[in-house]
Amino acid sequence: MNERTILVTGGAGYIGSHACVELLASGYQVVVIDNLCNSKVETLHRVERITGKSLQFYEADIRDKKALAEIFTQESITAVMHFAGLKAVGESCEQPLNYYHNNVYGTLVLAEAMSEANVKQLVFSSSATVYGESASVQYSEDFPLGPINPYGRTKFMVEEILRDLSAADTIIGAQSPWKIALLRYFNPIGAHESGLIGEDPNGIPNNLMPYVSQVAIGKLAQLSVFGDDYPTRDGTGIRDYIHVVDLVKGHVKALEALQSEKFKSGGCKAYNLGAGRGYSVLDIIKTFETVTGRTVNYKIAPRRAGDLAEYFANPELAYKELGWKAEKRLDDMIADTWNWQCKNPEGYA
Ligand code: NAD
Ligand code: WQD
Repeated sequence: MNERTILVTGGAGYIGSHACVELLASGYQVVVIDNLCNSKVETLHRVERITGKSLQFYEADIRDKKALAEIFTQESITAVMHFAGLKAVGESCEQPLNYYHNNVYGTLVLAEAMSEANVKQLVFSSSATVYGESASVQYSEDFPLGPINPYGRTKFMVEEILRDLSAADTIIGAQSPWKIALLRYFNPIGAHESGLIGEDPNGIPNNLMPYVSQVAIGKLAQLSVFGDDYPTRDGTGIRDYIHVVDLVKGHVKALEALQSEKFKSGGCKAYNLGAGRGYSVLDIIKTFETVTGRTVNYKIAPRRAGDLAEYFANPELAYKELGWKAEKRLDDMIADTWNWQCKNPEGYA
C-alpha cells in the first residue's frame, strides 16, 4: 500500500481524471484542484465509482495563491501532477494573454506554493507541440524546440522555467532539490474501458478523434479531412495516437522515477510519451469503421493552418529510463472511444 498523497491539478479534465484512476488504483491518495473551467465535478464521482476509492476535491484556481497554500497546509502532499491549463491551439491565437496567464502564470504560482511547502516533485503535462517543425518526422527529446503557436509557446516557456528552477539547485546546493519530469504527449485519444470517463469537448470538437466519433453517432453531419495533398503515404496528416490509459501509466512511472536513484540529486528531464508510430487521417477513419461497424461520412477539405504533414515520437528514452511503453493498439483506442461515446452521447451533461 502506497501512502503517498499526490496533488493532481486539472484532475477533473480528460487526462487528469484518467490519472486519478491510475493513481488510486496504484495505492496513492489523491487530492484534486480544478476550477472546472473545462470539466464537471461528475467526472470525479465517476473516478470514485471506477476505483471504489475516494479522493479529496478542491474547486479552486491554481492562480489562487491562498487556495494553494491552504491545500498544502491541509493535506500531506508529497508530489504534484500538473495537468491544469488551457489547450486549444486556435483559441490560444485569439486569446494569447488568457493562455499565458493560465498556463505560465498559473504554473509560477503553483511552483511558488510547492517551494514554500517544500514539495519538490513535479510531473508536468507538456506537449509534442514544443518541437515545432523539424528535419526528421520522428521526434527525439534532444531535437531543437520551436513551437509555432501561443499554446505551444506556453508549454515551452513552462519547460524553460522548470529547467531554470532545477538548475538553480546546483548553484545553491539545495538540500531538497527539485525533481521534475516534463512529459511531452503526442496525440492522446481513447477512454477508460469502463466507458465511465472519457473526453468531453465543449461544443464542436477541434481534435480528430472526438470529431470522428460524433460523426459516427450522428451528432455531426460530416468530417472534413484537412488536406489530402501532404507528402505522406496517402496525402493526409500523420500523427502518433496514444491511448489515454497508456499515457497516464507513463505518469505513474515518471513519479516512481522521481523517487528513484536516478533523480537522487534532483533534475529536470523531458520524456516523449507516444506510441512511436504514425497513423494517417484516412487510417483512423478506416479503422474506426472496421472496429465500430459505422460509416464515417467525410469530405476532403483544404489544409488547416498551422498543421504539419507528419510527426511521431521516438519513445525510446521513456522506455529506457522510466520503464514505460505504450501497450494498447489503435483498435483498442477506437473501441474505448466508441464505448464512451455510446454510453455518454451528451458527455457528462
Ligand atoms: P482538459 O481541458 O480536459 O483538462 C484540463 C483541466 O484543467 C480541466 O478540468 C480544467 O477545468 C482545469 N483547469 C484549467 N485551468 C485551470 C486553472 N487555472 N486552475 C484550475 N484548474 C484549471 O485537458 P486535457 O486534455 O486533460 O489536458 C491536460 C493537460 O495536458 C493540459 O495541460 C494540456 O495542455 C496537456 N496536453 C493535452 C493534450 C491533448 O491532446 N489532450 C496533448 C498534450 C498536452
Ligand atoms: C490530428 C490530424 C489534422 C480534425 C492537437 C494540438 C496539439 C495537441 C494535440 C495539446 C491532423 C486532422 C483534425 C478534423 C482533420 N494538444 N484533422 N479533421 O493537430 O495533431 O494536435 O492536439 O497539446 O497541441 O495541436 O491533433 O486531433 O486536431 O488533428 O482532418 O476535423 O487530424 O489535420 O492531421 P493535432 P488533431
